[in-house]
Amino acid sequence: MTETFYVTTPIYYVNDVPHIGHVYTTVAADIVARYKRLMGYDVFFLTGTDEHGRKVEKTAEQAGEKPLELANRVVKRFQDLWVKFSISHDDFIRTTEGRHKKVAQALFSRAKDKGDIYLGRYEDWYCTPCETFWTQNQLNDDMCPDCGRGVEKLKEDSYFFRMSHYQDTLLQHIKENPDFIQPKVRKNEMLSFIKDGLRDLSVSRTSFSWGIPVPDDPGHVIYVWIDALTNYLSGAGYLSDPDKFARYWPADVHLIGKDILRHHSIYWPTFLMSLGIPLFKKVFAHGWWTIEGKKMSKSLGNFVEPLQLTEEYGVDQVRYFLMREVPFGLDADFSRKAMVGRINSDLANDLGNLFNRSLVMATKYFGGTVPARGKVNDTLQRTADDVFQRVDLAMDDLAYQKALIAIWELIGAVNKYIDETAPFTLAKDESKGDELRTVIYNILDTLRVITLFIFPFMPDTGRKMWAALGIKEPIESQDLSRSYQWGSLPEEAELTKIPPLFPRID
Ligand code: MSP
Repeated sequence: MTETFYVTTPIYYVNDVPHIGHVYTTVAADIVARYKRLMGYDVFFLTGTDEHGRKVEKTAEQAGEKPLELANRVVKRFQDLWVKFSISHDDFIRTTEGRHKKVAQALFSRAKDKGDIYLGRYEDWYCTPCETFWTQNQLNDDMCPDCGRGVEKLKEDSYFFRMSHYQDTLLQHIKENPDFIQPKVRKNEMLSFIKDGLRDLSVSRTSFSWGIPVPDDPGHVIYVWIDALTNYLSGAGYLSDPDKFARYWPADVHLIGKDILRHHSIYWPTFLMSLGIPLFKKVFAHGWWTIEGKKMSKSLGNFVEPLQLTEEYGVDQVRYFLMREVPFGLDADFSRKAMVGRINSDLANDLGNLFNRSLVMATKYFGGTVPARGKVNDTLQRTADDVFQRVDLAMDDLAYQKALIAIWELIGAVNKYIDETAPFTLAKDESKGDELRTVIYNILDTLRVITLFIFPFMPDTGRKMWAALGIKEPIESQDLSRSYQWGSLPEEAELTKIPPLFPRID
């Protein structure tokens, strides 16, 4: 049976238009989804939008719209952007859809029937931008400890989830599954939070109405985080497509930003425990982007607009930069200088030049068809083997930067091979015809392997390179676990010279 792989992004709030932070997680999820497909997995990749809650309701009020009108407008921005960024999600879930609401309600009822959700009264603080409850002790100078903004005092009837009850089971689970929360620094933060003691979680609100009604008590709406987290089940067919759900659940990885790790590594698993649903395998919290050294914020007006970036630099260039610049778990700074530097050195110089000059040589010496296979080059093949092993491990760890560094070693190895074998010199000597054929074949075949490796990261570029190499079967149908080996570039494939893949930027 084919192995499955289920990856998710957070579902994005529709009170705000997409920015580089949203693009980051979604591109990361897309890359691992594409990689696993290329490795023969049956992949399910889910993204979507989080459309309920006080924050969305408030933004709609300010815009003089109904919340659903706001959602319908903003959701399009996200969906269009994902097309632009070559995102290959298999489904897009909106929390205002019927298939989602029925799941959130059913789960709420189930936990309530079990006695894990009970009615009480909430009297404490709430941060609307984070949609998060806080106690007086947790506040930081009376401000939200996460985002630093003001909090409001809530006094309202509320249902509570007996989260405290699952504290020890959760600690045990984290201990027995060392990869459950990644990276490690974040896991340690979560561990100390749990060890400080979990309180029961308020899971409904009565002071506004934009949410999913609590079953049998419609004066309450389900707390937006409980509503949102259940998207990972509703989006995978829970209660609507049992076969699909059985195939993909438990999710292999929830990709998120570090600010929402507590919700994913504490609220979510304890809720699943209460419901008796197996826990997801891993949650990975990536770092945050600052812009030219500053926090991204509305008041600074320094939001990096993703569409504008793609117009300036190109989609694949942006995808590459985001993954190459820093290790996935760490904070990063976005600067135009760094972006241009990466494009010119890694993409234009290393990869782009290699590809173009190889095609130029093949066209000049063999009239644009792939010459006959000669003998494998051991160094190139050994490098490809090694790169494959390293990329595969890196992708399991979501170490995108490491994977790219490995791939660039193969690019470097081909560049070196060209320098050492000097095809331009061989071409001048008629007695070296066989040698020249072998060298050109090996260069082109290694370019084929490089194309496969970079395809998950830069799908448009990958497709262009694949077509230029004259390979008829679609790149998506390849099995990377075998095809990274020497020799499957068809002899006599028709090569096409193409314009430079990555124009230099001044
Ligand atoms: N709706 C919730 C998630 C619910 S998931 C069940 C939410 N939405 S969000 O739109 O506010 O944020 C989504 C993601 O964007 C988070 O993972 C967050 O970390 C990420 N980012 C927001 N700003 C960011 C940066 N400046 N840098 C990197 N990621 C950032 O939270």
